[in-house]
Amino acid sequence: MSSLRTLAFLALIAGISGGQTSDCSHWGLLNHLKLTTRNDVLAMMRPVKNWTHATPVQMDMLLYGILEVDEKFQTVTSHVWIQMRWKNEFLTWNSSDFCGIDMLTVPRSMLWIPDVTIQEDASDSGSIQDSPHISLYPSGLVLANRRQRLTSTCQLRLYLFPFDVQHCNITFLSMNYDALILGTYYSGKILTSVSELTMVTEGEWQLKNIEITHYTITKVGTSHSRLVYMVKIMRKPMLYVINLIVPLFCLLVLDLATFFISDARGEKLSFKVTLLLSISVLLLILQDMLPSTEDSLPMIACYCIVVFTLVWISLLEAILVSFLMELDGYCFKEAQSAANAEVEIQLEANGHKEPAGAEESGRVRPAKGHLARDGPGDHDLLKLILEEVRAARQEAGGQHRDERKPGRYRRLAEIVDSAFFVLYFLTVVIFVVCMFKAGFQNYTANDNH
Ligand SMILES: *[C@@H]1O[C@H](CO)[C@@H](O)[C@H](O)[C@H]1NC(C)=O
Repeated sequence: MSSLRTLAFLALIAGISGGQTSDCSHWGLLNHLKLTTRNDVLAMMRPVKNWTHATPVQMDMLLYGILEVDEKFQTVTSHVWIQMRWKNEFLTWNSSDFCGIDMLTVPRSMLWIPDVTIQEDASDSGSIQDSPHISLYPSGLVLANRRQRLTSTCQLRLYLFPFDVQHCNITFLSMNYDALILGTYYSGKILTSVSELTMVTEGEWQLKNIEITHYTITKVGTSHSRLVYMVKIMRKPMLYVINLIVPLFCLLVLDLATFFISDARGEKLSFKVTLLLSISVLLLILQDMLPSTEDSLPMIACYCIVVFTLVWISLLEAILVSFLMELDGYCFKEAQSAANAEVEIQLEANGHKEPAGAEESGRVRPAKGHLARDGPGDHDLLKLILEEVRAARQEAGGQHRDERKPGRYRRLAEIVDSAFFVLYFLTVVIFVVCMFKAGFQNYTANDNH
């Protein structure tokens, strides 16, 4: 008897609890929402009871990473997470009727989803990863999440490269429905700070901030809502400073230093040519980074070209100086040989016969040879030789006077060299100061903007 009673009691408890579980399952709620069988109408139409009511859609976007900025193709590849929320007026329930269920997930394909796309999107379709489920809330709120490797087009302004700050717009719009009103749930400030917290990879970029605006375009009878995320990112310039700007500057300083190399036959020239080659290599690196589509030349390109031109001009000047030196040496030799020839002519004109081989080896020694061969005693001859030696000495003195003439080229070369050095030094200083000033001004203007 007692066992029967306990059995009945157990059965009662089981019955009660069974009833409770059926109430607390999602099944009952799905039944209530008429979602147990495929309800195509819910997937087809915009879920409003009055068609004239627009559907507000809130799009919150978080930036998870800045993967790549392509200066040549003018695209920015980022990793974003987008949460879309809107209201389905047919799917509401009272959570206390359903055991306190306050959230339900259903497959994405069962419900209508706003067709919001990104205007600047240039990525392949494979890069979008939709969550397979969407969440429903008692008030009819629907939440859909999506991750995307977003490649968006962005007009990159590279004038200040590598100190540039880029403003890129990500515009959300609906392709078909004009009854969507786009907005955001969170403010730009919150989204910026959350993005900064959750940012996984930034590469050479740093997220400055995200600003949000939305507006409506009204065209013949229809109005289109637009939501714009204005993302501001800043490049970390250190790599380019170390790789490009500092080496170029060092090469320029080296080129200035070459003016102190003694002009030892082409050594200076070959050094300068090496410098020019190094600069061309750096120019090649730069060419790989910057697009050829830029209207106004980036400042760094100007910098490179000016440095190249300066070194080139100084190379030309070195060639000129070395040419003048060469000319000077040539004139010296010419004058010397001319003087020699004159002496010989005079000697021959005086009726004296000398052996042909002695001409080049000097004037005193053949005289001595004569003396040795002819022997002492011929005083007239000795006197003649003395006179000739005197004449030769006079000639030599004349030649010394003439030497000043070829020496002029050397002096000219020295003057050109020092004048050019002063000019060059001033140009370099002015150039560097101007570059720095202009860059700084532009940078602060850009940063405040
Ligand atoms: C971004 O969008 C805003 C608002 O529409 C506009 O004022 C701004 O010029 C756009 N910026 C770029 C870089 O397109």
